[in-house]
Amino acid sequence: MAEKRRVILDMDPGVDDALAIIYAVKSGRLDIAGITAVAGNVEVQKTSTNALKVLELLDAPGWPVAVGSDKPLKRALVPETWVHGENGLGDVQLPEPRRTFVPQHAVDFIIETVRKNPGELTLVPTGPLTNVARAFLKDPQLPKLIKEIILMGGAASTHGNSTAVAEFNIWADPDAAKVVFRSGADITMVGLDVTMRAYITPEDVQELRRIRDNRVTAFVEVLTRQMFGLTAKIFGKSMVALHDPLAVGMAIDSSYCTVERMPVEVETESQLTLGQTVCDRRPWRDLDTTPRPYAKVCVAVDRERFVEDFLATLAHQ
Ligand code: BDR
Ligand code: CA
Repeated sequence: MAEKRRVILDMDPGVDDALAIIYAVKSGRLDIAGITAVAGNVEVQKTSTNALKVLELLDAPGWPVAVGSDKPLKRALVPETWVHGENGLGDVQLPEPRRTFVPQHAVDFIIETVRKNPGELTLVPTGPLTNVARAFLKDPQLPKLIKEIILMGGAASTHGNSTAVAEFNIWADPDAAKVVFRSGADITMVGLDVTMRAYITPEDVQELRRIRDNRVTAFVEVLTRQMFGLTAKIFGKSMVALHDPLAVGMAIDSSYCTVERMPVEVETESQLTLGQTVCDRRPWRDLDTTPRPYAKVCVAVDRERFVEDFLATLAHQ
């Protein structure tokens, strides 16, 4: 059997972050070193507590959860409560966690864990990149010591979701995203180009409930309810895009998406295009030899195979 990839999930749970935790834990195909929480969808006190709550729902053994940055590097936090509810979990109430956080700050947890596993650790950020950027600024050697970063964020050839051109995780802290994309780390960008195509419907959730009636699938049913309602209003179609689970999916099996290597820069100045991931998709882009930060950008997804694995994993006993 292939060796499990060792990962840190850096996230802002978040409805789809919660789905990503469930998928990561239940898959059994990742070696999870810990979860580091960041402010994003809601405040960091809530995102970190949500991570603990979801782990307890899963009866997951004591994976460390570290509380991280409470605001973006240079800007104010603009939570997405209209998408994720006031508490970040679609306003579903889970029992208060019995466990508590590790005493370290998430930034130090990332630095220490990477340094203990040089060349081995993959970061899977599915929130604003504040914790990761702060770790890189504090320890400039870190990008070279990381195996890979597989992040949910950005948009290459499609529109944004926070603004016309910017995706939420990048838009929420563009300065941090700029640091990360320019860090020299090996980055896979799992952006809206693919995550909007990897979605589940209310019928998928009903089928999941039919196959496996337990507290995890019952939670998934109520967790997704608000978002199905919201997307029905906005898009005229009830769907939950599996943004963050697809980043986890790429950590499990990188063949779910087709990637293209291209320069990616983050806009941090313009009011109009703040947070845009400017991806050079020109076929002749490599003729431009000025040094530019490259990333592997996901341009296509095998939706059927990924969603099937996601649902089958959630249906495990
Ligand atoms: C990203 O933003 C948040 O709303 C989601 O959790 C996901 O990480 C999608 O743009
Ligand atoms: Ca997220």
